[in-house]
Amino acid sequence: MDLSNSLLSLENIHMSFRRVDVLKGIDLTINRGEVVALVGDNGAGKSTIIKVMTGVHHPTKGKVYIKGEHVNMRSVQDSRTRGVETVYQERALADQQEIWRNVFAGREIRNRLGFMDVKRQRAEAAQLLRERMGFTSRAITTDSEVAGLSGGEKQGVAIARALFFEADLIILDEPTMGLSLKETDKVLKFVRNIREQGKSAILIDHNILHVYSVADRFVILDRGKIAGQFTKDQISREQLIDIMVDLHQTGQIKTH
Ligand SMILES: Nc1ncnc2c1ncn2[C@@H]1O[C@H](COP(=O)(O)OP(=O)(O)OP(=O)(O)O)[C@@H](O)[C@H]1O
Ligand SMILES: [Mg+2]
Repeated sequence: MDLSNSLLSLENIHMSFRRVDVLKGIDLTINRGEVVALVGDNGAGKSTIIKVMTGVHHPTKGKVYIKGEHVNMRSVQDSRTRGVETVYQERALADQQEIWRNVFAGREIRNRLGFMDVKRQRAEAAQLLRERMGFTSRAITTDSEVAGLSGGEKQGVAIARALFFEADLIILDEPTMGLSLKETDKVLKFVRNIREQGKSAILIDHNILHVYSVADRFVILDRGKIAGQFTKDQISREQLIDIMVDLHQTGQIKTH
């Protein structure tokens, strides 16, 4: 396997729960600087792939490589220290706390004496929100409580946090779930931002229109296997939709 441009690779990954095979031999590489979408029906195995990538699950069989190195992860911390961050809907943030506290939760900046450097954390968080994530609402400052943010803005804070800690790969599992159209647009903008900063992302979203508008490559998952994959220049949005509809109806991908 050529892993020179690879950030994360899965090699023949199998995952079973109580002897039921949920992933059946997944080979997948995420390259530097690309946004990859994982698409497929409910239960296809998308979230399970993410959990194997992030050390939540240990695969029944197969290997995970991060930056070319074979890793044997036992916890989410193991993937984090290697630059892989997952953004979960809502639950990643503490609602009653200010944005800056959320950005640095668990990884506070400390001064030489070991005290938390509040001033610097505030300043860094402010810069992150305005310059790197393009937060435009004047009503939001780093001192705003997360509880007052919209769903899309919460996702933005979570993505900003991942970027600050120099994540190379940011994984988003259904980040637009339950959001309005306007909020969804914000989240998609945040995802484009990830690539503009030269980082990689994996996006899971049931809405093909969302996926098509931000991803460079589409990996189609069907009952634990990769049924096909296409780069954006290989298919149009309509073709991708047709493929997904065909797959749903016939269980196969027709080549158009
Ligand atoms: N911890 C678990 N124990 C037993 N079965 C599991 C577990 N996690 C996932 N599964 C099963 O594995 C299959 C794939 O689940 P997964 O969550 O990966 O699907 P998904 O593609 O993310 O679906 P969705 O689009 O609905 O989120 C499902 O049949 C699910 O029931
Ligand atoms: Mg899922």
